[in-house]
Amino acid sequence: MSFVRDLELSRRDLLVTTASAAVAAGLPGLAAAQTPTVVGAPVVSGVSFRVNGEERRIDLDLRTTLLDTLREHLHLTGTKKGCDHGQCGACTVMVNGERVYSCLTLAVMNEGAEITTIEGLGTPDAMHAMQDAFVRHDGYQCGYCTPGQICSAVAVLDEIASGVPSHASADLLVPVAVTPEEIRERMSGNICRCGAYANIVDAMIDVAENQA
Ligand code: FES
Ligand code: FES
Repeated sequence: MSFVRDLELSRRDLLVTTASAAVAAGLPGLAAAQTPTVVGAPVVSGVSFRVNGEERRIDLDLRTTLLDTLREHLHLTGTKKGCDHGQCGACTVMVNGERVYSCLTLAVMNEGAEITTIEGLGTPDAMHAMQDAFVRHDGYQCGYCTPGQICSAVAVLDEIASGVPSHASADLLVPVAVTPEEIRERMSGNICRCGAYANIVDAMIDVAENQA
């Protein structure tokens, strides 16, 4: 037993020594990878932004994502966590008017930003036009992806109105039209396991036509 313990200690000493040498050699990545696990106190900082028109200031562990901040700290659970690593779009919110995967951005990176979540777009009694169109066109089934789809859809129509082209835009020199191809391309980062895609496209075209 003592032989095994001696071996473990030796291994730990070796790791510490290697990490120290890596730091001394200017290889912080190697040092981080090889440093034995030492759990320190979280570094907390204040962050301020506006969420759905309301000033919010909270103290957060610097590693907290915007998604966890919204859901766990501000209790805005309309924004959903699907994959938690940028693959599904369920967590989409708008930051300064642009759609963002909130699981891929730290809260502290959004200091001073204007953040809009599904709760800020409308309410059941006073729905945003896009929410209303999703209901009328049956643009959802289970609804889990829907808050992200709607936030993305609102921002997509704004992008098109501002003339931002996409991979599906045939000609960069003419104004972009709201076509099913444009919508499918721009909404491709929002996955719907229920497959409500066709009705989502219909809902977005409906809103675009009424905005024109
Ligand atoms: Fe953010 Fe899936 S939860 S992209
Ligand atoms: Fe169920 Fe989209 S409505 S995942």
